[in-house]
Amino acid sequence: MDFNNIFSEIYNEIKAIPSKGSVAQYIPELALVDPEKFGVSLVNLDGEKFHFGNAQEKFSIQSIAKVLSLTMAYEIQGEKLWERVGVEPSGTAFNSLVQLEYEKGIPRNPFINAGALVIADILVSELKNPKKEFLDFVNQLCHTKVAYSPQVAASEKSCAYVNTALINLMKSFGNIKNDINEVMDFYFHLCSIEMTCEELSQTFLFLANDGVCALSQKVIVDQSKSKRINSIMQLCGFYDEAGEFSFKVGLPGKSGVGGGIVVVRPHEFSMAVWSPRLNAKGNSFLGTKFLELFTTKIDYSIF
Ligand code: DON
Repeated sequence: MDFNNIFSEIYNEIKAIPSKGSVAQYIPELALVDPEKFGVSLVNLDGEKFHFGNAQEKFSIQSIAKVLSLTMAYEIQGEKLWERVGVEPSGTAFNSLVQLEYEKGIPRNPFINAGALVIADILVSELKNPKKEFLDFVNQLCHTKVAYSPQVAASEKSCAYVNTALINLMKSFGNIKNDINEVMDFYFHLCSIEMTCEELSQTFLFLANDGVCALSQKVIVDQSKSKRINSIMQLCGFYDEAGEFSFKVGLPGKSGVGGGIVVVRPHEFSMAVWSPRLNAKGNSFLGTKFLELFTTKIDYSIF
């Protein structure tokens, strides 16, 4: 398949759409990003790579990292993990507090902020040096050296009012075991990882390959866990827009407020798109449009 031509054809179609949305404002450092950036990368299980636009520029992957922290915690703890976090779509915003009190501090899923904070707490309990070990884990997947952005982590920390409320509420229900500041510091750092579209698509390829890293052949998680992580991405990867994304794109995926989206077509490829303007639900506006046209034009959804 000549993805290079398909990418530029779709980009020419979507660039005519009046720009909607704006870059994330609630993390001051993310508000500085050029809203016009646009990149795409696809890597398949034969090792072929296709890129378009600003595919080699680093951006803040934000919530996309929650899939990687879940993967690491799930591999360490196995099914016991699900005693502290659910696998149901929330139907609420990524930082919503409303369900958490009714549901006694057990977040609906690991991708809303509350769920990702519980996963961060688990990794703080399980790892000797969480920041270093998590980064080592990510680096073995992307085969390059990626890093945290201390500026973005500090910027998020400086106005983390809602995440602070979420973690305190969960602590009051006994679902956070460690010091709140330590868990939040780890969480802000994992969200601050910077990657290019190429690195991001390479990183997620193990989820298209039944949990096996395609380059090293190392088993990252077993087939059943890989299937389940993809299922959670399908149902929860886009918060209160998960239904709409599934309806339009039809691939498991995950977004971040840095404007990135990564999707996986099991047994074929992984693909990353980056466009910083976000829609009202906090997902990349043009990134979603691009993926909708991509899976529609070449009939490439999983359905
Ligand atoms: O905790 C936060 O709000 C951010 N670090 C991550 C949120 C995010 O990326 C939601 N995704 N669309």
